[in-house]
Amino acid sequence: MPMKTISKTQKELVSDNKELHMPLDEAEETLSAIRSGEVNALIVSGASGQQIYTLQQAEDALQESEARFRTLVEHLPAVVYINTVGKTSSMLYVSPQIKELIGYTPGEWLFNPKLWLIALHPQDREHVLTKVAAAQHRSEPYDMEYRMNARDGRLVWVRDTVILVKDLNGKPQFWQGIMLDITERKQSQERIQRQLTHLTALSAIDRYTASNFDLELGLSEILIHVTTELGVDAADILILNSSSQMLEYSAGRGFRTLAVRKAQVRSGESYAGRAALERQLVRIPDLSSEPYNSFQATFWAGEDFVCYFGVPLIAKGQVKGVLEIFHRGALEPDAEWFNFLNALAGQAAIAIENSVLFTSLQRSNSELTLAYDATIEGWSRALDLRDKETEGHTQRVAQIAVGLARAFGFSEAELVQVRWGALLHDIGKMGVPDNILLKLGPLTEDEWETIRKHPTFAYEMLSPIRYLRLALDIPYRHHEKWDGTGYPHGLKGTQIPLAARIFALVDVWDALSSDRVYRKAWDAEKVCEHIRALSGTHFDPEVVDAFLPTLDKM
Ligand code: C2E
Ligand code: SIN
Ligand code: SIN
Ligand code: FE
Ligand code: FE
Repeated sequence: MPMKTISKTQKELVSDNKELHMPLDEAEETLSAIRSGEVNALIVSGASGQQIYTLQQAEDALQESEARFRTLVEHLPAVVYINTVGKTSSMLYVSPQIKELIGYTPGEWLFNPKLWLIALHPQDREHVLTKVAAAQHRSEPYDMEYRMNARDGRLVWVRDTVILVKDLNGKPQFWQGIMLDITERKQSQERIQRQLTHLTALSAIDRYTASNFDLELGLSEILIHVTTELGVDAADILILNSSSQMLEYSAGRGFRTLAVRKAQVRSGESYAGRAALERQLVRIPDLSSEPYNSFQATFWAGEDFVCYFGVPLIAKGQVKGVLEIFHRGALEPDAEWFNFLNALAGQAAIAIENSVLFTSLQRSNSELTLAYDATIEGWSRALDLRDKETEGHTQRVAQIAVGLARAFGFSEAELVQVRWGALLHDIGKMGVPDNILLKLGPLTEDEWETIRKHPTFAYEMLSPIRYLRLALDIPYRHHEKWDGTGYPHGLKGTQIPLAARIFALVDVWDALSSDRVYRKAWDAEKVCEHIRALSGTHFDPEVVDAFLPTLDKM
């Protein structure tokens, strides 16, 4: 063990007063000052006041505390080591926890200076060695995260915090480091990354199903009504593709051939194109009397259609597509028939307009929902692990939020989104480094700035996933406050989506009722009072009024 230096102020104390004030855990430094005869007496300050020791007493006390210090080091859930400085750096001390960490004993570690390099994962070698080299002249501690291969083949992730200790003249003396095992956290991060990839893949399928499959199903259902209730032979729906401005076949019923499925019509061309362009019904009572039409030849060959109706599908003032009706005989519809046609056309237009909502309604009980749900729940468990949350914590929050949302009249499909949003509400904390998230004390202004980004990080991560669009309200808006003083955007009152207003309350209730790394849980009464006091400032008063009475049941 090298002789530790005494810092400048301590040194001054030593030479001026021959007395030394320092906490017991700096025992080593004190001990060397005493050994070198620099100190005559020692004043130890503690909770019970000050005590002056003679040299002999001091030496005894310090040896005892050195032993205590060593005991402390050797029981930390971390590896502590000291290393010489220079090209041929060698180990001076390593605490016995090294054996548990990577399977080598302290002796092996000390006598084989290359062991660290050998254990260091090849892919981390470069960035670690670069960082070590760059740190030769710095005096602030620095952190590195890297992998090591344990003796038994395990892959171990460590966080190594290193500080260069210098002598009084500023000459580097040795490295002192603490290695923490962060394997579990790293694995949970990797799991989150994998699940993100998985979810994004599901989302690609979803985009396909939402635009083609589910919407088609909905439209097909409408076409069943069209053909049976209007008493016509065939019908189809062409959707206006807003980027190509082409009307494209989407669903059909009653056709003899599949040719019509390939139909694509430019606005203004053919009957459907005319209906879309002119925004009015196109009626052809007798197709055979019309001039030769290449469209008919291509798509309706062999269908023997006699009459035709093309109805523009308009929602929110915009043409969404065209409903086409065909009959293989003459038709003389009355006013009631036209009314019904208009109603069905309106439904089809709304179905297209709301296809996202439409599909999620369809899906609320589907297998796909269950698959998503399992994925999201697994994801949220991994998030809790990283956040050092207790098992099941986020699930509980989600359950309470869903219950409250139900009381506010959310539909089943919306409740699914509330659940997903709640499960993922703090996913943005993925973007907040551990040293902030797991910090034991209060946060600095800079650290707060990073924390306040977590809703925006969540938005960036989740917004590409289409089936989570509606769920996003919670991760993105759960830190907005009713009075407009929240983050990230200072939204106020009902500008904040209701789901987020509900969740904000549940989140704070749960946060305060649980232990955090930075404080102990509050008791139920105090939490309740706190929430009541924030009604109308932090929280929506209506949500508070609905929530508090439910507490007795929890
Ligand atoms: P969280 O721990 O999940 O807390 C969620 C929200 O509950 C907080 O949002 C805050 O509104 C409320 N809350 C939680 N603990 C307390 C508390 O002790 N006192 C009061 N009055 N309210 C509390 P906020 O403040 O925007 O914090 C967001 C996140 O920032 C927290 O999520 C937590 O992860 C982190 N954080 C907040 N304070 C600290 C801290 O002192 N140290 C560390 N390491 N992290 C903190
Ligand atoms: C704050 O100082 O704004 C944060 C309170 C907390 O969550 O600990
Ligand atoms: C978390 O995982 O920190 C969020 C749950 C909560 O604070 O209620
Ligand atoms: Fe949060
Ligand atoms: Fe939270």
